[in-house]
Amino acid sequence: MNILVIGTGYVGSTTAMVFAELGWKVTGLDTDKHKIQQLEQGVLHFYEPGLEDMLRKHVQSGQIQFTTNKDKAIRDNDLIFICVGTPSRADGSADMRYVKQVAEDIGQKMNGYKLVVTKSTVPVGTQEQITAWIAAAQEQAYPFDVASNPEFLREGKAVADALNPDRIIIGSNSKRAAHVLQSLYQSAKCPVVITTPRTAELIKYASNAFLATKISFVNELARLCDVLDVNVKEVSFGMGLDPRIGPSFLQAGIGYGGSCFPKDVSALILTAKQNSTELSVLEKVVQVNQTQHAYLINKVRERLGSLANQKIAVLGLAFKPDTDDIREAPALRVIESLLNEQAHVTLYDPVASLPADAAYKAVTECSKLEEALQAADAVILCTEWPIFKNIDWGHMKLVMSQPNVFDGRNILDPRDMRANGYYYQGIGHNG
Ligand code: UDX
Repeated sequence: MNILVIGTGYVGSTTAMVFAELGWKVTGLDTDKHKIQQLEQGVLHFYEPGLEDMLRKHVQSGQIQFTTNKDKAIRDNDLIFICVGTPSRADGSADMRYVKQVAEDIGQKMNGYKLVVTKSTVPVGTQEQITAWIAAAQEQAYPFDVASNPEFLREGKAVADALNPDRIIIGSNSKRAAHVLQSLYQSAKCPVVITTPRTAELIKYASNAFLATKISFVNELARLCDVLDVNVKEVSFGMGLDPRIGPSFLQAGIGYGGSCFPKDVSALILTAKQNSTELSVLEKVVQVNQTQHAYLINKVRERLGSLANQKIAVLGLAFKPDTDDIREAPALRVIESLLNEQAHVTLYDPVASLPADAAYKAVTECSKLEEALQAADAVILCTEWPIFKNIDWGHMKLVMSQPNVFDGRNILDPRDMRANGYYYQGIGHNG
């Protein structure tokens, strides 16, 4: 089976590499010539541990190839995965223009049976829509199937997640298509769920929305913990021992970011509205998430008074560790608030950097952690990079102007920090 993966962004690149690793011949297609040239040379355009090594290995062995020639790529491959972006529109809905373009290209260029599969997160009903787009674009009525096979990988752990998934969801109305996809994943040691396309599409949104709900739940609980003088980490631990609850996604902090949760939660809320129903719990989830960074900034203000002309060091920019992705990163909201209040902001992240945007011109990005902390009146920790757990705070006290640390990811020990002479505030994590 020769596989074509259309779109070489995060999901597309990882999907292509994993199929190559599983022994299939893969072609990666993108309209971006520069990206394709880089991939052909074994260079990945984003940071993901382990993925570039896989890319080099499979480019060298010829297991994977890249192209911008869509006509030939569509003609030569019968199994096509759509992995193009579905960015958010201003109203929160998913922008389907790239998916539509790909569907029309497939319809126009196909030369025989094709199985078209969506990996991108797409609104419920998209399988039907793609079917209609392909049919309308066809010059000759070749048979085809469209199926849904959502991807659940996490950034920073993409390789491991994609190679060892928890479950494989196949949404298909065609037995033939379901059978092909099942055989593709025959080596996977996890449950394979075969269901309708609509169900598969909703499973993806519902999973992300539920994980976001866990995070906002614990984040709001952390605010109560602060008032009650209870440590939220211990509460999460105690709750997580109940197998019905589970320990994951109960880490309180300054909120979730990234390319999936914010976008997918908004899109699901909108889907409910468009269908004359509501997801009121999810609306609150968004509200808590959007105010969580302000909750931490408030703590800084309570300590320092006005933030004008205060020197604040922000540690961590990426929306989570092991990625250079800053999409919807809570650190951006922290930085924007600080700049609005005329603070002097220094920033250190081991991998990620700010976009070349006038809005962040006033931020001093440092290549060394100590440089960012120089003469700082306070530190705000926004990403739990492992190196931040081992900072020599005894030494940093000599570097900083005032020993104030606001831990937006609850990774430091409040007692140790206080013993070191620091004023320390976490999020529901203070004693
Ligand atoms: C998520 C889903 O986990 C994945 O299944 C889906 O395919 C894409 O979206 P990702 O966005 O890569 O993956 O990151 P994830 O590890 O889920 O974290 C998302 C955000 O939640 C991060 O900002 C992280 O810091 C935050 N988070 C996570 C918390 O604040 N607390 C937690 O307990 C867990």
